[in-house]
Amino acid sequence: MAVPQYVKIVEVGPRDGLQHESQILSLENKLAFIERLSQTGLSVIEAGAFVSPRWVPQMADSQAVFKAIVKHSGVSYPVLVPNMKGFELAQSVGVQEIAVFTAASESFSQKNINCSISESLKRFKPVIKAAQSSGIRVRGYVSCVLGCPYEGDIRPEAVAAVAEKLYQMGCYEISLGDTIGTGTPLKAQQMVHAVAERVPVEHLAAHFHDTYGQALANLFAVLQLGISTIDSSVAGLGGCPYAKGASGNVATEDVIYMLNGMGIETGVDLNQLIYVTHWLAQTLEKDITSKTSSAVLIN
Ligand code: HMG
Ligand code: MG
Repeated sequence: MAVPQYVKIVEVGPRDGLQHESQILSLENKLAFIERLSQTGLSVIEAGAFVSPRWVPQMADSQAVFKAIVKHSGVSYPVLVPNMKGFELAQSVGVQEIAVFTAASESFSQKNINCSISESLKRFKPVIKAAQSSGIRVRGYVSCVLGCPYEGDIRPEAVAAVAEKLYQMGCYEISLGDTIGTGTPLKAQQMVHAVAERVPVEHLAAHFHDTYGQALANLFAVLQLGISTIDSSVAGLGGCPYAKGASGNVATEDVIYMLNGMGIETGVDLNQLIYVTHWLAQTLEKDITSKTSSAVLIN
């Protein structure tokens, strides 16, 4: 399988990134954040999560955010939805794409969405049906594909089984989440091999966190298997509140730098992205930790 010539980047900073920040960004700053990202050439920007505000207070204003963002043509703004309630709220503000999310680990599923994997799939059934009948696209996430904070190693076959179910239920793309970033390149390849036997590789996405500094190496490894969609978060923000110790997603600017070097198109302007990281650092009053942004700002 040849390395793809074009990679679609799914920017998850406004959701995965901000859900993990102790400081809750104001509505105005969230809008400014998404607007700045929309001007970088990204084609997918995850704009929020219609989850319980008691579980993730950082996402409590997702309805207001979605309503107010300027929707640029050619850019989609998916949101996370865990159940029918979330779907109805999302639909009421005109969301065009949702993402349902479950896990390859039973313990993580319980901690994150308070139900078993099979219960989660049962919950998604009416959500996906309602979405499809309204022309709303549905993406599916599988967490803990390379390790679980509660169960340790996860078998590639367990990941493949959940991914296949989501795909058969109607998710057009399955995002494989290394939630706690414990994966290493060969394990990432084994996992993608197993999943690709059940879901065509062009319908898979890599969603790697960088807790152990392995995310770029893991991405390079799975690009060799034909993965052509990568989830990432500008400035490397992110983590899951229900996966203790999980650090940020791989930084979008580091991914773009690597892909540019490999001659792989993304449509994303690296310089514009770095301006966003700079703005974000000032707004969140924190240091930028991604290698590329730090290097460009210093040089
Ligand atoms: P529950 O407590 O079992 O739900 O939570 P419930 O149905 O019993 O409802 C409890 C309360 O929440 C009720 O309110 C509901 O109305 C309300 P009350 O009557 O007590 O006032 N509620 C809602 N409110 C707003 N929107 C909703 C909603 N649903 C119920 N959609 C639930 C179950 C799934 C809701 C909860 O566990 C939850 O929201 N979990 C989300 C956790 C989360 O967002 N985690 C982070 C995202 S996943 C992630 O980061 C991983 C990923 O990045 C990939 C990777 O890295 O691996 C995607
Ligand atoms: Mg994540």
